[in-house]
Amino acid sequence: MNDLYIALIHHPVHNKEGKIITTSVTNFDLHDLARTGTTYGVKKFFVVTPSEVQQNMVNYIKNYWTAGFGADYNPSRKEAITFLETSPSLEDTCLTIKNHSGSQPLLVATTAKKTEKSVSYSFLRQKKQDGPPLLLMFGTGFGLASEVLDKADYILDPITGVNGYNHLPVRSAVAIILDRLIAK
Ligand SMILES: C[S@@+](CC[C@H](N)C(=O)[O-])C[C@H]1O[C@@H](n2cnc3c(N)ncnc32)[C@H](O)[C@@H]1O
Repeated sequence: MNDLYIALIHHPVHNKEGKIITTSVTNFDLHDLARTGTTYGVKKFFVVTPSEVQQNMVNYIKNYWTAGFGADYNPSRKEAITFLETSPSLEDTCLTIKNHSGSQPLLVATTAKKTEKSVSYSFLRQKKQDGPPLLLMFGTGFGLASEVLDKADYILDPITGVNGYNHLPVRSAVAIILDRLIAK
């Protein structure tokens, strides 16, 4: 089975008007995605933001829970947050993965909308059996910018729900998607 990575992208993402923005990091995304990723064997969870101030804040939080008071206070949080890394861009994230696993990852975008490039979960489960590592990309704000969707090798089918409403919080989307891809 090939390596799986996840990235929470804070830039480039869309705002309500469809403009490209950089969102702020949300503290509980760090904890929740680190725990979910670790549960499903994700190799690393990248928090992608070009803002040095935000990277420093994330690294401060990581350090608190992995080396500071928090490490003894909450060992299961320490274990999960160890896999979290900041990255300034998607390009940099791909480079880190290449150095870590030996090859360039296939980029897989997620979105609540069906697109021409959308592929099924069973297709991606097959892809996961061998070959290059996969990087699952999740958006913040109003979702991944079109340029990220264009760069993606694949876009996963949206989670549809039952009544037409499917705007999930990113934490739920990550959990559902990892379970669909990995659970036996
Ligand atoms: C647009 S952001 C919303 C951020 C918001 N601030 C939050 O945390 O709830 C949510 C991200 O979760 C994923 N997502 C949300 N709904 C989804 C769906 N129905 N199918 C697939 N992915 C979805 C996408 O990666 C999307 O960019």
